[in-house]
Amino acid sequence: MTLVLVIDDVPAMTSLYEYDLRRLGQYAVHVAHSGREGLDALLQDDVDCVILDLEMPGMDGFAVLREMAKRGGGPPVIVYTGTGDFDRCVQAMRLGADGFVDKNEPIERVVHEVETVLKLRSLREQVAAMQRRDRAESALVGGSPPMRALQDAIARLARIPSPVLLLGESGSGKDIVARELHLAGSDPKAPFLAVNCAALPDHLVESELFGHERGAFTGAVTTRKGAFEAAGKGTLFLDEIGELPLAAQAKLLRVLEAHTVTRVGASGTIPVTARVITATNRDLDSEVSTGRFREDLLYRLNVHVIRVPPLRERLSDLPELAERFVAAICARFGRRVKTLEPTALAALMRYEWRRNNVRELRNVIERMIIATDGETIGVEQLPAELRPEAGFRETVSEAEPQSYRALREEAERRIVVEALERHGWHLTRTASALGLADHASLSKIMKRLDVRRA
Ligand SMILES: Nc1ncnc2c1ncn2[C@@H]1O[C@H](COP(=O)(O)OP(=O)(O)OP(=O)(O)O)[C@@H](O)[C@H]1O
Ligand SMILES: [Mg+2]
Repeated sequence: MTLVLVIDDVPAMTSLYEYDLRRLGQYAVHVAHSGREGLDALLQDDVDCVILDLEMPGMDGFAVLREMAKRGGGPPVIVYTGTGDFDRCVQAMRLGADGFVDKNEPIERVVHEVETVLKLRSLREQVAAMQRRDRAESALVGGSPPMRALQDAIARLARIPSPVLLLGESGSGKDIVARELHLAGSDPKAPFLAVNCAALPDHLVESELFGHERGAFTGAVTTRKGAFEAAGKGTLFLDEIGELPLAAQAKLLRVLEAHTVTRVGASGTIPVTARVITATNRDLDSEVSTGRFREDLLYRLNVHVIRVPPLRERLSDLPELAERFVAAICARFGRRVKTLEPTALAALMRYEWRRNNVRELRNVIERMIIATDGETIGVEQLPAELRPEAGFRETVSEAEPQSYRALREEAERRIVVEALERHGWHLTRTASALGLADHASLSKIMKRLDVRRA
């Protein structure tokens, strides 16, 4: 049953709505004869939708809307006015009303409006839930020393208005870091605007970034704000900055120097207030030496540099990342959460992750989940390139350890030994490759696992 609250000082009107809505069967109706009474009812009952008269003596409909906005989170409101003055309805919608009807309209129209605002509300809630889920899914995971250093850098730089350059391999998490910088910044509610410089055709780059005046070039039929303007007091994230054409690089440099932007085809300037974050997986120094990137621009952008570590330098974060991805992906597919077998996890830890870092891990896990019918994800579901080479199982141990603990220790031992082999048993280098604090931490682990050079 949908509970509708009708607020109108004229009893004849409330009775009419009450009678008509009840007759339809799917609505329960409460009535209130003043704004104040209506607000009290909202506190007491679980109202799904409000039908509100704008003209009432004392506290009118506008005042009710204002009070509701102050309280926040109330049900959707449909307003009506006896004067037939739609400007007032529009004004009410600015104050938060979701729809309006005419006093003389048949009940079918009113019901249609009620259903529409309820649908709208439910869609908005779904979007908000998805955004929350996205955030929960994407916030930076990992407590390894390189990740802690990254979190520190984010915390230190978030509130500083100077540009930040994010360097890191593809899929290492630069997008998330840019967002985290914005969210930890001084105005997280301001816009966060991401522009992928690689995805823009050359002839549109400048208009995209700086905007254009009507008629500035063929196809510019209307004046358009560029990304710098649209980002307002928020953050402009220029992703893949290394791909920006040289002409646009020159303009970008001027914008960063002058803190103003000029739309293409315009003469006046507009102040730039957005914070600029750039990212690239290219080596900008070598781009400078080959003349593909302006050195003066690089020095504007790299006032602060955050290096986002590749996954293989922080392998100790992998179990937590894997667990998060398994949970998030199962939830997204509407499946029961599966568990990753220690042997499968060990195989994930042994892989180099050179191609796409965390994104590759995420994709691998998604594929493994799809390939699993049972409750646990095992080595059988690993993509070919990640399969432990033949003989792995036999060499785990002669006695085939069965307990989770024994399997995990065996997996850890393999990870440590292989990393040591790769780095010629150099403890400091191996420790850093595994994302451990120092060689002492590695020594401790080696002792626990009884790992010694043969
Ligand atoms: N530390 C992390 N915690 C949780 N998820 C992460 C982490 N790092 C990366 N991811 C996830 O990995 C994927 C790739 O990350 P992102 O898009 O930020 O990489 P990128 O560095 O911007 O890559 P590219 O250079 O290809 O643009 C995303 O799905 C992101 O949510
Ligand atoms: Mg990216």
